[in-house]
Amino acid sequence: MTDGTASRRIAMPASGPDRDAGFLKDVLDGLGRPVKTLPAKHFYDQRGSRLFDRICELEEYYPTRTETAILTRHAGDIAERIGRGVTLLELGSGSSVKVRLLLDVLDQPAAYVPVDISGAHLEASAARLAADYPEIPVSPIHADYNQAFPLSVKGGPERTLAFFPGSTIGNFSPEEARAFLARLGRQLGPGSRLLIGVDLKKDVARLEAAYDDAAGVTAAFNLNLLERINRELDGTFDIAAFAHRAFYNGDLGRIEMHLESLRPQTALVAGVPFRFQAGETIHTEVSHKYTVEEFRSLGRDAGWLADETWTDGEPLFSIHLLTFQAPPSRFRRTSGA
Ligand code: AVJ
Repeated sequence: MTDGTASRRIAMPASGPDRDAGFLKDVLDGLGRPVKTLPAKHFYDQRGSRLFDRICELEEYYPTRTETAILTRHAGDIAERIGRGVTLLELGSGSSVKVRLLLDVLDQPAAYVPVDISGAHLEASAARLAADYPEIPVSPIHADYNQAFPLSVKGGPERTLAFFPGSTIGNFSPEEARAFLARLGRQLGPGSRLLIGVDLKKDVARLEAAYDDAAGVTAAFNLNLLERINRELDGTFDIAAFAHRAFYNGDLGRIEMHLESLRPQTALVAGVPFRFQAGETIHTEVSHKYTVEEFRSLGRDAGWLADETWTDGEPLFSIHLLTFQAPPSRFRRTSGA
């Protein structure tokens, strides 16, 4: 992935994902459904990425600081289990803050490969990281990690560590998460490892506060999706006529975020009208919560076996280290598709 010249440590692909076409298609498709929905990945334009970074610093939003504390506490143990010379692939690298805790302790990592959908954010974070870790080649990939992206790792599967922090896996349904992890395993190969952060099931009030903070940062983050549609897709959303809603759905074990229309209204997107009734919502995000055992079982179904799981004392959050073998036969693919 690196071009091999010392002067170009950071190699950006000439073009990233086709942002406008994909965003417009997803919005027209999602708002055209009987139950309106928008994919959570579109939260992360430049403003959305900044708002997300602010969410991570909120008192109510415990996942970031708890995951960081677990990583800090067990970094030595993790580094020992990983060994020397790994290529560290980060899925959804954002500001590349947590990965520093790993880069600080890993034994001579061969490369850091951040993958992120937000091009501007990726470029800036990768440049900062390359400056702070001059001995580690940084090769960012501007891509939606849920789509296939080209990846070649020098040391082979045994020397590959994927890092997927933040409980971002929770944005998939359990079935999507299993399929995603199975595909990741096939892409990285048997013997590759995965260090993944997973938010735990807990007290409902605690969960709901984390997604509906008093300062309204999460509300701004959610509403930014409509502002982004207005900015980029000639949208006519009246932002003040929508409200942020977040609640725990206990049957499905997930936080749901919605944008609720406060009155009957019509909004245009690229000239296409969408009608909203008062009280109707756009479902913008799911954030699934797991027990340690539930997640281990999901991992197993995708071919990933747990080597170790670390949690904080309460516990609020978990970090799993898994090794890919192969998906169990009932989930194994028979075609090459
Ligand atoms: C980064 C996707 C895991 O679901 O907790 C934070 C995103 N949404 N507050 C999460 C998010 C609202 C976050 N993930």
